[in-house]
Amino acid sequence: GASSSSTTETTKAPEGKKITLGFSQVGAESGWRTANTQSIQDSAKEAGYDLKFSDAQQKQENQIKAIRTFIQQKVDVIAFSPVVESGWDTVLKEAKDAGIPVILTDRAVDSTDTSLYETFIGSDFVEEGRRAGTWLVEQFKDATEDVNIVELQGTTGSAPANDRKSGFDEIISSNPKLKVIASQTGDFTRAKGKEVMQAFLKANPDIDVLYAHNDDMALGAIQAIEAAGLKPGEDIIIISVDGVKDGFIAASEGKINFIVECNPLLGPQLMEAVQAVVDGKEIEKRIVTEEGVFTSEDAKRELPNRKY
Ligand code: AHR
Repeated sequence: GASSSSTTETTKAPEGKKITLGFSQVGAESGWRTANTQSIQDSAKEAGYDLKFSDAQQKQENQIKAIRTFIQQKVDVIAFSPVVESGWDTVLKEAKDAGIPVILTDRAVDSTDTSLYETFIGSDFVEEGRRAGTWLVEQFKDATEDVNIVELQGTTGSAPANDRKSGFDEIISSNPKLKVIASQTGDFTRAKGKEVMQAFLKANPDIDVLYAHNDDMALGAIQAIEAAGLKPGEDIIIISVDGVKDGFIAASEGKINFIVECNPLLGPQLMEAVQAVVDGKEIEKRIVTEEGVFTSEDAKRELPNRKY
């Protein structure tokens, strides 16, 4: 509607002008990330926005640089998926002072000043960790001996690594037989997942369970487990998070026993939020993504429908 637009809103794109969205992505570390990037690019195109997309290659300094560039370019809205949780206040304050609204997607920041961003759209990572733990507690409820768990953590300091760990620990603490005997970062990548799993196997002759914070690290670990002459999914029970196609394939083959879904298709919700912010509408401070869980059986059934 042309006549209703007010000229007092600083965040408003002039009538008829394309909305410019600056988006700083974490990197291209995983299948999840690839699907997330695709979703954002497709949805921006569909919405008719001018998307300035920047890949930070898993480095916070690159994201800070990208955000400063977006501020200089006077984009209408900045959105980003913060690689780590801490250390954002200064640059977010710069965006605020420039009158440019910021939307967080996928990962949270730990800033106490929530006026630094409009909303956070993404998963509840603590809940994902709890879902992983709940399945494991049920599987081993009758265990009479110790259950030795190794954990491949996501990127150090990232919200999903922090939260998937704490949610899982919270639930498995109900059974003292469930013991995390080793826990290290695999940086959410296959290569690191494989490398760290190799080291775990060397140091611990009796691993019962692997909890990987994403499918890619689980897939790398599966290679290490097979190379060690063991059967993934049988000799070592595997739980992972995401539910990307390759994870689903491994699960349908019985190599991953349980996948907690993390939905990467955040593009449509992000574009809606961008429009609302530009229009000066009220939006929810927290938008939580809907997601499920999958056993090997579920994965077999769902695989043909999996889009990413
Ligand atoms: O922030 C979401 C996480 O980042 C995904 O679970 C992981 O695969 C990605 O790298």
